[in-house]
Amino acid sequence: MGSFVAVAWVLFLNVVVVCNGGKTSTFVRKAEKTVDMPLHSDVFVSPTGYNAPQQVHITQGDHVGKAIIVSWVTMDEPGKSMVHYWTDKSSHKNVAEGKFVTYRYFNYSSGFIHHCTLRNLEYNTKYYYEVGIGHTTRQFWFVTPPQVGPDVPYTFGLMGDLGQTFDSNKTLSHYEMNPRKGQTVLFVGDLSYADDCPYHDNARWDTWGRFVERSAAYQPWIWTTGNHELDFAPELGETKPFKPFTHRYRVPYKASQSTAPFWYSIKRASAYIIVLSSYSAYGKYTPQYEWLEAELPKVDRTETPWLIVLMHSPWYNSYDYHYMEGETMRVMFEPWFVKYKVDVVFAGHVHAYERSERVSNVAYKLVNGQCNPVKDLSAPVYITIGDGGNIEGLANNMTEPQPEYSAYREASFGHGILHIKNRTHAHYSWNRNDDGYAVEADSMWFFNRHYHPLDDSANDKFRN
Ligand SMILES: *[C@@H]1O[C@H](CO)[C@@H](O)[C@H](O)[C@H]1NC(C)=O
Ligand SMILES: *[C@@H]1O[C@H](CO)[C@@H](O)[C@H](O)[C@H]1NC(C)=O
Ligand SMILES: *[C@@H]1O[C@H](CO)[C@@H](O)[C@H](O)[C@H]1NC(C)=O
Ligand SMILES: *[C@@H]1O[C@H](CO)[C@@H](O)[C@H](O)[C@H]1NC(C)=O
Ligand SMILES: [Fe+2]
Repeated sequence: MGSFVAVAWVLFLNVVVVCNGGKTSTFVRKAEKTVDMPLHSDVFVSPTGYNAPQQVHITQGDHVGKAIIVSWVTMDEPGKSMVHYWTDKSSHKNVAEGKFVTYRYFNYSSGFIHHCTLRNLEYNTKYYYEVGIGHTTRQFWFVTPPQVGPDVPYTFGLMGDLGQTFDSNKTLSHYEMNPRKGQTVLFVGDLSYADDCPYHDNARWDTWGRFVERSAAYQPWIWTTGNHELDFAPELGETKPFKPFTHRYRVPYKASQSTAPFWYSIKRASAYIIVLSSYSAYGKYTPQYEWLEAELPKVDRTETPWLIVLMHSPWYNSYDYHYMEGETMRVMFEPWFVKYKVDVVFAGHVHAYERSERVSNVAYKLVNGQCNPVKDLSAPVYITIGDGGNIEGLANNMTEPQPEYSAYREASFGHGILHIKNRTHAHYSWNRNDDGYAVEADSMWFFNRHYHPLDDSANDKFRN
């Protein structure tokens, strides 16, 4: 009798195990051609008025969230790189002065690209700002984050590989309309896809800037570089990687002792965000390697419990597309991510969605053959969110069977929201563009790796 029960129990467990493998969503998105919105689309319209500032966007301007970099483009003449800004509470207008740059790319000449940093801002305060001094002016606003601290709730939006198609517009609209209200976008790379146009037509960088202005002028977008930011085209005589990106987008890399704008860190509310570059050298002795090695021990989890890493090329990816492209960086950095208990890694590149279990593959050595990722509660969850909807279309071809470490995967366009509640809990959700704004197609409660390092997998097979 006892052994019968035992056998039945074993059978039952087996069934449970089989039923609770990672999930490949059965949702099949209608196959449609992904096309760029035409140049005359409403989202690309230039603001009216002589020399009107356009492509306005902001990002964090220091290490802790008390500064903002405001960027914009004027087309007719340089004008002034000046920003006026003020709060509700005072009628006094502050003024900050920035600089402008221009660049040429093959036969394209840019407008006047202005960058101006507003410093010594108050935390948790709504600021209005005005650009375009002298001719046509335009007003926007942003809200600074709360002071950095362990229990400060904050909501990040996640987008990647956005481009400028009708689907891109849907993704951005869904992000804007999501009732969970993202306060800052963590963007995992591949912005405009201008390089997919003949001669990398940089006018598509301008249209992209006008397209995302409706969000990026009002809340910071934290930039990660992807392969579409390289714009490396020796056949056009363009051999300096990241040229359009670095002229148009600024990041506060010096504030984290980085020596290049492709890897850096910021603190925001209760999160410590490390941005890495899949397309800059990361081997031993390289600047990025040395920076990250010095950076990770600086993270004080009692101040910022949530350690988040952004990169473009995912390390754990079970789609056919870009399969194992992230492997060399994984070999270099994964032991550190486990040692320092990174909570979550967001990547893009693969034009689909995937969420992993907490796994690591750090036991692997060339000589021992242990090459299966194993459950590891010190390891991050890896999320691929390259599903912004760019012109290259959906990645819908997956490796089969779904590896055990892959918790959920689906070939749809969408965006994510990470809502940090306090030092122990964060709620994460993913919205697919085909659903209503409030629908969570995938979700997970994150338990913080420093304060609450319990098993947070929803998958019985991966739970202790
Ligand atoms: C750049 O050169 C290409 C190829 O000759 C041409 O089609 C395009 O119109 C040119 N663009 C500009 C802005 O001159
Ligand atoms: C883009 O989305 C916005 C907001 O949903 C909408 O008003 C606009 O018409 C859309 N434009 C295009 C070209 O789809
Ligand atoms: C999809 O992947 C399978 C193998 O995993 C491959 O044989 C097939 O050619 C791929 N199809 C496309 C359209 O890439
Ligand atoms: C943290 O947030 C979670 C989820 O909302 C809640 O259950 C928990 O009680 C909170 N912890 C504290 C200390 O407030
Ligand atoms: Fe990419």
